[in-house]
Amino acid sequence: MVRNYEVRRQYRMLIGGQWVESASGETLATLNPATEETLATVPFGTAADIDRAVAAAREAFPNWRAMEPRARGKLVAELAARLRAEAERLAYIEALDSGNPVSSMVGDVHMAADLMEYFAGLAAEIQGTTMPLHGGMNYTLREPYGVVGRIIPFNHPIYFAASRIAAALVAGNTVILKPAEQTPLTALEFGALIVDVLPPGVVNIVTGDGPRTGAPLVAHPQVRRIAFTGSVETGREILRAAAEQIKVVTLELGGKNPMIIFPDVDVEKAATTAVNGMNFRWCQGQSCGSTSRVFVHRALHDQFIEALVAGVRQIHLGWPTDPDTEMGSLVSREQYEKVMRYIDMGQREGARLLCGGGRPSGPEFERGYFVEPTVFDQVTPDMTIAREEIFGPVLSVLVWDDEEELLAAVNGVAYGLTAAILSVDLARAMRWAEQVEAGYIWINGSSRHCVGAPFGGQKQSGFGREEALEELLSYTQIKNVQMRYRLD
Ligand code: NAI
Ligand code: MG
Repeated sequence: MVRNYEVRRQYRMLIGGQWVESASGETLATLNPATEETLATVPFGTAADIDRAVAAAREAFPNWRAMEPRARGKLVAELAARLRAEAERLAYIEALDSGNPVSSMVGDVHMAADLMEYFAGLAAEIQGTTMPLHGGMNYTLREPYGVVGRIIPFNHPIYFAASRIAAALVAGNTVILKPAEQTPLTALEFGALIVDVLPPGVVNIVTGDGPRTGAPLVAHPQVRRIAFTGSVETGREILRAAAEQIKVVTLELGGKNPMIIFPDVDVEKAATTAVNGMNFRWCQGQSCGSTSRVFVHRALHDQFIEALVAGVRQIHLGWPTDPDTEMGSLVSREQYEKVMRYIDMGQREGARLLCGGGRPSGPEFERGYFVEPTVFDQVTPDMTIAREEIFGPVLSVLVWDDEEELLAAVNGVAYGLTAAILSVDLARAMRWAEQVEAGYIWINGSSRHCVGAPFGGQKQSGFGREEALEELLSYTQIKNVQMRYRLD
């Protein structure tokens, strides 16, 4: 049962273990997207604040680095335990700030804690190798980069804030976290747990927007490693800026992910999997991993769309803080308008709107950025809604009957993040898994992540892998030491 929790009206940000205003004194308002009213203000950090945060992170680095990895891991595990203890309160604040349903945000908090515990336990995997050398040996060290900049988006704010700094910390880096401007509150609430557990300056949280806060973080010469989750356009800008200083970057960007349905599957179950894959219930479809292009075999098509629409109609749209709500509000007016534009475009380009397509009716939905779960049928691969990431509750159904054409359509987009393949013929599904251009594939499933299984994209969905050992190691750099036992 989720209760009502108090939300502060004014927040400060975390630099060097202190709660501070921005150097300029400017603030940024964050909205409750379900009411369109200001929820709270946070400091608007700019380059001067990034400088302060980098100085604090650099000061904290030598002692943090000198700790044994397992000792750092224990602190990260302690942070995970405190996060779990606050799950309901954080989820409630998240629901207010992001529009995501509170129940699924409780899940996000625990998922973040799962990953933190996982990386805490992986501390002993920070290892090197040895190689024989006449009269000595080569050995390698895995060293942290130093100060890491971590930029996260609005769709899973506390999940990203908590889970996506754990690996960097266990590896011995200190961190500057930049939350999304739409959803800064839970990161700052998380900061209140951090100050009780970690030494000052090990994690700093600077709130603000992209150009004035994120960009100076990327450009800072003493930030040696950037990790980014967000849009392709911003990823491109970050990569360009990082090139100036040959900075190490990982990018987890968008997706226009296919679900391929073969004619041998149970059509009802396939429809349920398609509804789940769209993440309507988790974050209103605002997810990079959503399987938003469903390719269904012609033989199943009619039954499939009937079951799909029935499944979508069951989604309970409601107030984000109501524990029974399955789907809340989009995060901002900008996202709302963007999604509405795509819905309009789908209709103009000739797709058939099966359900949804607008603002839900009812007095509770007169304000706020609510959009009904929307399904288009008769979508063709050349349509805009089949090519571009909508990042909202809009699913496109495409019909197929030729495998070669199917593969061309599936791989014919710029993205390559996830894909789902539904078939009872596992040999065929495995063959398809090799051919589909995506970094993360479900066979007979969708949406679910697995702690320890590497998540990340191909093509313009980015590079780098997270949620697995690769993520931990990506926050280390290898140094080889060639040692001879004596000088002769
Ligand atoms: P965005 O990529 O601009 O923002 C993500 C984060 O990057 C935010 O913290 C933002 O402040 C920061 N940022 C923006 N510009 C920056 C810059 N030049 N340097 C450093 N940091 C910068 O995404 P936005 O504008 O919130 O959403 C726009 C679209 O991007 C969405 O409609 C969706 O299609 C896509 N998107 C994809 C996400 C994913 O998980 N793949 C997450 C968020 C958005
Ligand atoms: Mg907000």
